[in-house]
Amino acid sequence: MNLTKEALQLLMKNKLAKAGLSDEHAGIVADVLVHADAKGVHSHGAVRVEYYSERISKGGTNTKPNFKFEKTGPCSGIFHGDNGAGHVAAKIAMDHAIDMAKENGVAIVGVRSIGHSGALSYFVQQAAKQDLIGISMCQSDPMAVPYGGADVYYGTNPIAFAAPSDGKEIITFDMATTVQAWGKVLDARSRNKPIPDTWAVDKNGEATTDPFAVHALVPIAAAKGYGLMMMVDILSGALLGLPSGSSVSSMYHDLTEGRNLGQLHIVIDPARFAGVLNLKQSVARTIKELNAMKPAPGFNKVLYPGQNSLAKEEKSAKDGIDIVDEIYEYLISDALFNKSYDNKDPFAS
Ligand code: NAI
Repeated sequence: MNLTKEALQLLMKNKLAKAGLSDEHAGIVADVLVHADAKGVHSHGAVRVEYYSERISKGGTNTKPNFKFEKTGPCSGIFHGDNGAGHVAAKIAMDHAIDMAKENGVAIVGVRSIGHSGALSYFVQQAAKQDLIGISMCQSDPMAVPYGGADVYYGTNPIAFAAPSDGKEIITFDMATTVQAWGKVLDARSRNKPIPDTWAVDKNGEATTDPFAVHALVPIAAAKGYGLMMMVDILSGALLGLPSGSSVSSMYHDLTEGRNLGQLHIVIDPARFAGVLNLKQSVARTIKELNAMKPAPGFNKVLYPGQNSLAKEEKSAKDGIDIVDEIYEYLISDALFNKSYDNKDPFAS
């Protein structure tokens, strides 16, 4: 089914509000989800609504969270998320980090005790749209084998970065520290498509192309990706006094309980360094040089991180967003959820 961004946002907002979120929170979650779908990051868009709705309706997402921002220093703070919707807490916490960075040059804000927050590009772009540099990272449920290990330990622990240029472009680098985000496997399942053999291993630790046989994801770049996922876990979990490592809550374990996940936003005001204009011109020059470079065989063009998403976003604005029929049928139905995710294996579909 092909939908406009506005139509898809409204369908998702209505479903999340029906599940129990306030209109305001449902609208923000739907904004973050449609941002992902419009960019072609379907792993973090509408595919998640059914799971979120079940969790919300069962009490595992606090629908009336007592959000509180605690300033702990001139450049630091903790946003207490009270296990409300992660997307909402992350967005408001980033607003606090932006204000603080504008005032004091840099800001580091930890987001404590939240649910799943979706695609991090949304939050770092909040900063870049205001001529700041944004960096975000967060914990996610243990799904990856550590380098050299056979058991699951860390999550797909994503990191995102955004910087403004003097054009409409925002360099947005946003990645899971596993070869692929778990949502990409979910998306392959919903589309009944095989996955590349470099994404995941089965229960015997062997590479698999069957998205339904996935037992664990693998870190990017072997020991280096493993190191990055550890860094994310320490900065967005241990630093904030939250469960870390394999103690991080599972996506599907007990949908009646809050997840207590952590996130960290870092915002830098270029005005306190070489200046906003200088940064934006330098980023714009880099983009131009990369785009003009001779591509390697098999490539049409060297892209800057986020350029592929921007192109998809422009296409979505023109042609609409392609949503799997089953997800559309669910969104327009009266059901809060059809298939239960509660207490499923973390690798359940
Ligand atoms: P991806 O593999 O699709 O893209 C990673 C990065 O590479 C992006 O910045 C993309 O723009 C860039 N890129 C891709 N192709 C490129 C090319 N040809 N040239 C230059 N740059 C290129 O992203 P991934 O790892 O699948 O993550 C998807 C989303 O999942 C992200 O938004 C991430 O934040 C989200 N995520 C969220 C989690 C959570 O718990 N909240 C957990 C894990 C992932």
